[in-house]
Amino acid sequence: MPPCHLITGGAGFIGSCHVLRSRTAGVRVVNLDKLTYSGNPENLAALRDDPDHIFVRGDIGNDELTAHLLEIHQPDAVINFAAESHVDRSIHDPDAFVRTNVLGTCALLRAALRYWKALPEDRRAAFRFLHVSTDEVFGALRPGDPAFAETTAYAPNSPYSASKAAGDHLVRAFHETYGLPTLITNCSNNYGPRQFPEKLIPLILCNALARKPLPIYGTGGNIRDWLHVEDHCEALSLVLEKGEPGRTYNIGGRSERTNLEVVRALCGILDRLRPHPDGPYADLIAFVADRPGHDFRYAVDCGRLERELGWKPRHGFEQGLEDTVRWYLDHQDWTDRVRNGEYRAWLETNYGGRRA
Ligand code: NAD
Ligand code: TYD
Repeated sequence: MPPCHLITGGAGFIGSCHVLRSRTAGVRVVNLDKLTYSGNPENLAALRDDPDHIFVRGDIGNDELTAHLLEIHQPDAVINFAAESHVDRSIHDPDAFVRTNVLGTCALLRAALRYWKALPEDRRAAFRFLHVSTDEVFGALRPGDPAFAETTAYAPNSPYSASKAAGDHLVRAFHETYGLPTLITNCSNNYGPRQFPEKLIPLILCNALARKPLPIYGTGGNIRDWLHVEDHCEALSLVLEKGEPGRTYNIGGRSERTNLEVVRALCGILDRLRPHPDGPYADLIAFVADRPGHDFRYAVDCGRLERELGWKPRHGFEQGLEDTVRWYLDHQDWTDRVRNGEYRAWLETNYGGRRA
């Protein structure tokens, strides 16, 4: 029997990458996704005729549904990607983040615990609940601070990171209290194909191609540590296979860049690959009102993952970014389709009041 994983949020950016990789590796996948605005079945088009990819539209908060899926498919692991994932949206509607990232995670944990307890002993020993989280739970770093380690205290600053932190605490508590074999990963900003164009890199690409302003919050000096989505998913497979239950693992790209550096790099790549007669793309850069509570810097120390599990990122940032730009240039129909009415309304909500 091939291994079977229940993957939640598998129609989103990172989840779909992991689902595709899992199928290539021969893992049977039950994919539970609510298909919110960022969930896109088109991300899984390559699996349309694959009988070992079972897609179920549903909410991780529905524990009757998850209990049923666990019972009939008997997975060896649950990997939880499902989340509300965008900081700016959390500023406008924190409750949605509590519902999925806190209450939803708790409901999924309850269902997994009941299922795990009833497994025969050998399968109980092998079972894992892997929860995908973020470095944002650690708060913000100043310029010379050491990078976040697994031992760094949680200090979330946005409703998004606070809800992810609460979810992480519940996962930890289910291990300590009930013995559920959980793993938590905290990763840095991902980039790569199929990222919803509300996040910095795809938003800038979409706006640049439409000759719209490229909004940079504040001065553009804020720093993120960029991780290619394929490197992230490779790390998740390693943690699932070799990680020690009850532990957490940081995943980072060792690629710290200011937002302005990232946007200028994107403009430079577009100037080479898709030059525009009206001039360089960087002319479109517009500094706009800052994000409230904007974390200054994230940087992840992924030494534990490298030392203990032998992981190393394969993608250098410059090449990874150029490959990502090429993907978006080759898939403009994908972006056209996701930029529906909801997306346009979001742009008005988030950017309407910010003056250049
Ligand atoms: P995404 O927004 O692209 O995808 C989230 C997916 O979850 C969507 O398919 C959505 O439909 C689904 N979903 C949302 N609520 C659900 C619910 N209640 N029940 C079932 N499905 C639901 O997000 P992403 O960027 O792919 O992020 C995946 C995970 O990785 C999240 O947990 C996020 O916090 C974490 N993470 C992301 C990044 C990043 O840079 N993108 C960085 C660190 C951590
Ligand atoms: P984002 O992609 O939203 O990820 P996160 O907030 O989780 O780090 O933003 C990445 C950085 O880019 C962050 O510092 C905010 C900034 N940013 C802008 O300057 N302009 C934008 O339009 C967006 C969406 C983000």
